[in-house]
Amino acid sequence: MSRLAGKVALITGAGSGLGRAVAARFAAEGAKVIVADIDEVHGRAVADSIGANAAFIACDHTSSEQDARAAAFAVEKFGRLDIVHNNAGGPFTGPFEKVDDATLERVLRINLFGVMQMTRAAVPYLKESARHNPAGASLLYTSSLQGLKAKPNFSLYTVAKHGIVGLVRSLALELAPQNIRVNALCPTVVATPMLEAFLPGMAADHEEAMKRFRATIPLARMPEPEDVAAAALFLVSDEARMITGVALPVDGGQMAM
Ligand SMILES: NC(=O)c1ccc[n+]([C@@H]2O[C@H](COP(=O)([O-])OP(=O)(O)OC[C@H]3O[C@@H](n4cnc5c(N)ncnc54)[C@H](O)[C@@H]3O)[C@@H](O)[C@H]2O)c1
Repeated sequence: MSRLAGKVALITGAGSGLGRAVAARFAAEGAKVIVADIDEVHGRAVADSIGANAAFIACDHTSSEQDARAAAFAVEKFGRLDIVHNNAGGPFTGPFEKVDDATLERVLRINLFGVMQMTRAAVPYLKESARHNPAGASLLYTSSLQGLKAKPNFSLYTVAKHGIVGLVRSLALELAPQNIRVNALCPTVVATPMLEAFLPGMAADHEEAMKRFRATIPLARMPEPEDVAAAALFLVSDEARMITGVALPVDGGQMAM
């Protein structure tokens, strides 16, 4: 398959979970992929597993300097940058009244500031790409179902993920004249290492928590990272050339309830 043939995609947080599945799927569809992650060991392993069509760069997306380096690296390595998937993020659970300033800053940095910093670094390259492709360039974000609705004790995460949806809507309008499409994925709970960080606040044991999750999903199964990657592929592909400003639930029907 070659739905992304000739394109270069940079994915943050691609060393694990959803980002890893997206990197593998984009590469399988013909893209050259920049695996950007703060975790060198796992990030490098993902790039190695893809082979010559992938390259790893160590990047903490909360550093503007490292974001600029990662975006430039894509062009140095593969000659262009057509797709940026801002996927990296981190968990938060706990009562809002107990949140100290350091936690507030850390969670918003990882889930929102870093996302904006990488976006700012990438836009000039995406504008250049869009000038040469009638279907335009693409910015994609991993928000969450918590970007569209809320539940108790997820306050900072929910603020950040709602913030991403706001950013997507604003940028979709701002960058439409340059033919850069801007969309978000809003997955429900997916079994990745991050989920393990959320579980203790949800149920006494792992199986019980999974059973509870499944019971809330109309399609009665949990999404796999590959389900999220399939939605990502569509949104960044030229087939979605008329779709921008969308926050797409990948949730087995939860938002319909
Ligand atoms: N797993 C879920 O249930 C779920 C549901 C909805 C949304 N999400 C979102 O999906 C995204 C990916 O989560 P995941 O479940 O794959 O988690 P994960 O923990 O498996 O992967 C997150 C990756 O991001 C990297 N990362 C963390 N901080 C970083 C930083 N500052 N700079 C660069 N990389 C950094 C980590 O090293 C890791 O490789 C996150 O934004 C998360 O909020 C996850």
